Amino acid sequence: MARHLLPLLLLAAVGLSEGSVQFHVSLRVPRFVEMGGSVLLFCEHSVAREQLHKIEWLRDGRKLFQFVRGRQPPYRNFTTPGAQLDWRHSNERQVMLRNLQFEASGFYSCEVSTETPIYTKASNDQQLTVLLKQRAEPHITGRKPGLYLPGEKLELNCTASPSRPEADITWIVNGKKVDDRLLQVFPGQRTFADLTFSTVQLSLELSEDNVIPAPSVAPGAPPASGLVQLTCLTTIPAFHGFEDEHENHLRPSSVRYADKQMASLTVEVMAPQPSPDPEAAATMNSSASALAASVATFVAAVLAVGGR
Ligand SMILES: *[C@@H]1O[C@H](CO)[C@@H](O)[C@H](O)[C@H]1NC(C)=O
Ligand SMILES: *[C@@H]1O[C@H](CO)[C@@H](O)[C@H](O)[C@H]1NC(C)=O
Ligand SMILES: *[C@@H]1O[C@H](CO)[C@@H](O)[C@H](O)[C@H]1NC(C)=O
Repeated sequence: MARHLLPLLLLAAVGLSEGSVQFHVSLRVPRFVEMGGSVLLFCEHSVAREQLHKIEWLRDGRKLFQFVRGRQPPYRNFTTPGAQLDWRHSNERQVMLRNLQFEASGFYSCEVSTETPIYTKASNDQQLTVLLKQRAEPHITGRKPGLYLPGEKLELNCTASPSRPEADITWIVNGKKVDDRLLQVFPGQRTFADLTFSTVQLSLELSEDNVIPAPSVAPGAPPASGLVQLTCLTTIPAFHGFEDEHENHLRPSSVRYADKQMASLTVEVMAPQPSPDPEAAATMNSSASALAASVATFVAAVLAVGGR
């Protein structure tokens, strides 16, 4: 009887002691930091001070700072490629790194050890990327002079300004993200300073699906031309779309961009021949006003996206 109980008791004891060292550890680090900037690596944990033995901060598995409770001095430095440790702003909770260079990019974590029982738990790895922002708006090229014709193919290139990492390019037509099938990516080119940039070509056949009729002028005036509103967004990280694409309710989602630039262009298209079918004309009219409304909302939304 007692022999049967023993393993159960042991199991219960192990379970208990494991239960008693359950605590949480997480590292708070921004996802992106500008080159030359500084960053705070804040190690959050739920261990009581009297149970705490040691906290270590690591970059790609290599120690960069350590705190041992009760030791004199309690802190220990390690060299960190691409960063300077700010001794005065580092303590048992946080490490401050200054003057960050690209080599400081990597995965950071912290590890918390308890004294009794001896137990160590690591946070998740958090990626930090040292970034050099785009210096300017993207360039839109390839626009032909004068008016485009209905049915004509509009081909435009958007080239981002060099950055590191490379900025992601998104084409937006009349307030909607363009389908990838209309895009051709010319991959990243490297500049002297190891910055990169790429070009994305948009090929759009002009039709009533994408041309907004311009507001008509006075009766008897020449036929109004149509418009296509084009925007090229270059962002780090990639553009994540809008929170609610339905209902023409284009609110930007809450993710902030570490870097964002944009350029816009309006292309004029000659008016198509008036349709003899009044029903078709009415449909076109209503879809056109919906498009015009979505463009207006879009412009407001883009201006609100991200913190720059
Ligand atoms: C840590 O590094 C700083 C700067 O290099 C230095 O001033 C300080 O003495 C070092 N402390 C220890 C304990 O190594
Ligand atoms: C866009 O750029 C690529 C690569 O430089 C080039 O081959 C292509 O002809 C350009 N397209 C337009 C419309 O300018
Ligand atoms: C087109 O829309 C305007 C205003 O939205 C409206 O006044 C006009 O009657 C519409 N035309 C047709 C053919 O539905």
